[in-house]
Amino acid sequence: MMGFEFWMLALCALLLLVLGLLSFLWLDSDLTLLRAAWMGQCPEQALADKVVWITGASSGIGEELAFQLSKLGVCLVLSARRGQELERVKRRCLENGNLKEKDILVLPLDLADTSSHDIATKTVLQEFGRIDILVNNGGVAHASLVENTNMDIFKVLIEVNYLGTVSLTKCVLPHMMERNQGKIVVMKSLVGIVPRPLCSGYAASKLALRGFFDVLRTELFDYPGITLSMICPGPVHSNIFQNAFTGDFTETRLPKIPLFKMETSRCVQLILVSLANDLEDIWIANQPVLLRAYVWQYVPFRDWILQGRYGKYISKVLGITWYR
Ligand SMILES: NC(=O)c1ccc[n+]([C@@H]2O[C@H](COP(=O)([O-])OP(=O)(O)OC[C@H]3O[C@@H](n4cnc5c(N)ncnc54)[C@H](OP(=O)(O)O)[C@@H]3O)[C@@H](O)[C@H]2O)c1
Repeated sequence: MMGFEFWMLALCALLLLVLGLLSFLWLDSDLTLLRAAWMGQCPEQALADKVVWITGASSGIGEELAFQLSKLGVCLVLSARRGQELERVKRRCLENGNLKEKDILVLPLDLADTSSHDIATKTVLQEFGRIDILVNNGGVAHASLVENTNMDIFKVLIEVNYLGTVSLTKCVLPHMMERNQGKIVVMKSLVGIVPRPLCSGYAASKLALRGFFDVLRTELFDYPGITLSMICPGPVHSNIFQNAFTGDFTETRLPKIPLFKMETSRCVQLILVSLANDLEDIWIANQPVLLRAYVWQYVPFRDWILQGRYGKYISKVLGITWYR
């Protein structure tokens, strides 16, 4: 009889495990974010009346973020290099009628030109008197094998993605420390967690951000009012690949990998939930990219599993490995 009860319990546990795994396959964000989306603060309450400075606001995720924030009545500062595109985004944000002309500042800025960041910060403070949220979103990527990538491309990736973000954060930080209030958001990437071929320099620039901001968080221990959110999206619809550097890489050699891209609007909805709830480190991706990240981060012997006979094929399909 004991034996029967044991096997029934084991079967139930197995069923629960299978159900848990199957429901995981519906998720498009990590569990902390999912919990916040169900039980946490909603963005409408937490973000209304804030002053939000977004870099990389001229397209993709930054543009959509500006658009969704404009619906919440948030004052916006839109930055990127292309002023005309920023004006277009501003007009789009004004269309929904929640903001007035004076609530949106278009502030062209080159992340690589760190000497201009201090003046830009002063301009925002003069206009709105405060910066509640800095969204370090602007960035560039590349799609080329290491052997084909020119050193200049590696330098630009570090200058824009890493040094540009560090510089702007350093300019805004003293103001936030004075008030002991503010949110700093950093757009990293799942590529900085799970290696993928053709983006060595991009992954390195995002990993550098991780190191810098992890340490900054420990240094802000005495400033509990300042929070840091690191967002790691997987593939999202945007212009990032059209704008990516390709080195002397020819497109015909790009691996035929399904990219499982997420809609930009969905990605931004989830980013807003994480902002509203001050989540520290979040993953956003469609399946199976999210599953791949969990496997990479948490499953022991992952290399052995992924390099086995069938594992190599799975790795190739999931874009973890590149075979010539
Ligand atoms: N899409 C994805 O699959 C994905 C996944 C993970 C992470 N991300 C990250 O998400 C962020 C936004 O990318 P996206 O996907 O929305 O790509 P995107 O559509 O190409 O947008 C990139 C933005 O960055 C700006 N930018 C590029 N170089 C700049 C510079 N030197 N100075 C100032 N702004 C600059 C661009 O504007 P200008 O050209 O006008 O300067 C543009 O507004 C990036 O940090 C990217 O690494 C994207």
